Amino acid sequence: MAEFILYEQEGFVGVITINRPKALNALNSQVLEELDACLDAVDLSATRCLVLTGAGDKSFVAGADIGEMFECTKAEGEAFGKKGNDIFRKLETFPIPVIAAVNGFALGGGCEIAMSCDIRICSDNAMFGQPEVGLGITPGFGGTQRLARLVSPGMAKQLIYTARNIKAPEAYRIGLVNQVVAAEVDEAGNVVKTAQEAVVAAAKKMAAGIAAQAPIAVRNCKKAINEGLQVDMDQAIVIEEKLFGDCFETADQKAGMGNFLEKDKEKKLKVVPFQNA
Ligand code: CAA
Repeated sequence: MAEFILYEQEGFVGVITINRPKALNALNSQVLEELDACLDAVDLSATRCLVLTGAGDKSFVAGADIGEMFECTKAEGEAFGKKGNDIFRKLETFPIPVIAAVNGFALGGGCEIAMSCDIRICSDNAMFGQPEVGLGITPGFGGTQRLARLVSPGMAKQLIYTARNIKAPEAYRIGLVNQVVAAEVDEAGNVVKTAQEAVVAAAKKMAAGIAAQAPIAVRNCKKAINEGLQVDMDQAIVIEEKLFGDCFETADQKAGMGNFLEKDKEKKLKVVPFQNA
């Protein structure tokens, strides 16, 4: 039984919660190992999209655990970086999309884990940053690489060299996040949904929209985009061709195209739903 990772299955959507709120969900070795085990345990025959969030109302993830890193030797530091990198890479290349639902702090390893997800939705009080140089280290869970690829090398360098944290509107403006949502308040001023609830609700809604599409096609799109970005365009389009071809003769393709071609509305309802086949 995991101490710091929670997993809930809601239909085709799996919700992973990093649950160490007393330390603002900071990533120590145990959290990382439990996250790794949680990913390995996801039933991919019944899950089409994941949401990743942090417990509590204050923080998504406030970074790698500074207490754990303080006494590290060079070799131990490198090994800790590898541990995080291996798990974040597993998340990045996970067969199904992963949406980060970010409320509050996403600093250091928190920004890095969010960037390892396919899509980021944050609350309007979210704060992103790579403050590592202020701690005497570089970002160590992929921050130097993913921030430069996701925003731009110049902006990544500015944020990393200055250790400046940025708020949700700026994160949205530079393309670090896809969507910003606010807490919901009724006319009397009562909170209907906290920022954390609102961000998870928005992520689940997007996840359900993804889960309603043909799952084989969605998986192949993720693979095509991820793998195509690693190579030149001539090789990238070949990757797409293979994954495009791979969709044919599947039940999903027959159902998806059958839905379009079936003009009789009554009959359309009888077309089989998408299957993981
Ligand atoms: N590691 C370990 N513990 C952490 C932590 C972290 N990254 N971030 C927060 N905590 C702990 C605090 O030590 C504190 O614990 P205690 O109650 O036992 O004292 C608890 O969480 C609450 O934190 P604060 O009292 O500091 O809360 P705050 O509201 O005053 O400040 C904050 C919030 C600005 C996020 C502040 O906690 C902070 O600056 N945290 C560190 C952020 C950071 O530098 N992250 C990068 C880490 S390095 C990294 O991630 C390297 C990498 O790339 C792999």
